[in-house]
Amino acid sequence: MPTKFNYPLLENAFSNDDIDKAMQVLKSRYITMSKKTKEFEKYFAKKLNSKHALMVNSGSSAVLLAFALLTNIKRKRRLKKNDEVLVPAVCWSTTFWPIVQCGLKPKFIDVDLKTYSPSYEIIKKNISKKTKGVVLVNVLGNCSEMDKIKKLLDKKGIMLIEDNCESLGSKYKNKYLGTYGEVGVFSFYYSHQITSGEGGAIICKSNDDYKILCALRAHGWDRDYNQKNRSKFNFVNQGFNLRPLDLTAVIALNQFKRLNLFKKTRAFNRKAIIKTIKKSNTWNNQFNFFEPIKGLDPSWFGFPLLINDKLVNKKKSFLQYLKKNKIDSRPIISGNFTKQECIKNHKFKTTNNFKEADRIEKLGFFIGLPTKKIKQNTINELCRHLLNISNL
Ligand SMILES: Cc1ncc(COP(=O)(O)O)c(C=O)c1O
Repeated sequence: MPTKFNYPLLENAFSNDDIDKAMQVLKSRYITMSKKTKEFEKYFAKKLNSKHALMVNSGSSAVLLAFALLTNIKRKRRLKKNDEVLVPAVCWSTTFWPIVQCGLKPKFIDVDLKTYSPSYEIIKKNISKKTKGVVLVNVLGNCSEMDKIKKLLDKKGIMLIEDNCESLGSKYKNKYLGTYGEVGVFSFYYSHQITSGEGGAIICKSNDDYKILCALRAHGWDRDYNQKNRSKFNFVNQGFNLRPLDLTAVIALNQFKRLNLFKKTRAFNRKAIIKTIKKSNTWNNQFNFFEPIKGLDPSWFGFPLLINDKLVNKKKSFLQYLKKNKIDSRPIISGNFTKQECIKNHKFKTTNNFKEADRIEKLGFFIGLPTKKIKQNTINELCRHLLNISNL
């Protein structure tokens, strides 16, 4: 019997081995943060060529920790209350809210249509005397010119925070994304480059930052970096409880070891979809594809598309058509985040011009990109439906 066509956003990402490893931890009855988390953190930091990594319970928690660190009283160089932080209009909710939660002043800026992220020029144009931080989101495996941007920000004494929740494994000019910033954060939520169900990580460059992060992650105590004090209840900083479980750390580690395989397979699938679309006799430039910036070795997450301007009126019926034909889709991040209801109640500073973020919201959507090779007849069916936009 032919299998029914179905193209979900999220595939079943756990291997039998992931589950066996998790079961071993569960059966040991020690599931809370301990040796497996440490093992993951050491491996993760080493592979990314970063000094330290800490695992947390989500990418959102990692962003919160990043801003809590950079504003922390124990940090010599820090952001102060009301310092301005530039944030792209195409961002995730928890890229944005930790800025406010940590007492800083966000200023939304527009993005570039090619990378969905602010270009060097956009950042330069928006920097003022008040700007003390910039958070960049590396969207769906792509990025801006990180080296040029970092240089500019360093020259001006501005901190770079890299929200790399969507781009684990991408390298720009031979350097992993997430390692350009003062801190870099990652998400292992379901359907990302790797997944532990829920989970995330933060990487930093100094022992002092590492100690602050350890304390902030767990109640403000020092026991996670000061083994002598394990049994003491020494509270040295403010605290949250953002710890992961060893149960999730062991899955994250097992998945992370397969990241290169996932990366290759996704690149293969992406290429095959684009090739099939462009070879079709119904191809009439219905879409613009998301191309890697020069110098990028991408680790894709999802398959974003921008609908051709001429077809934009069909977007709503097209997405309904895809749903009816078992193709899941979703917006690119959250579109132009400044238009979301949660922002309307506040008076945040903006450039008031989000031409490109608006276009991404208006024209954009994304579909899944599986970590297993897609069969050509599935690709054919997928592409046939995508190209059918012209006939709706
Ligand atoms: C850019 C970005 N930042 C932060 C997050 C939050 O990560 P998590 O879902 O692990 O909390 C996401 C989630 O998809 C994201 O896309």
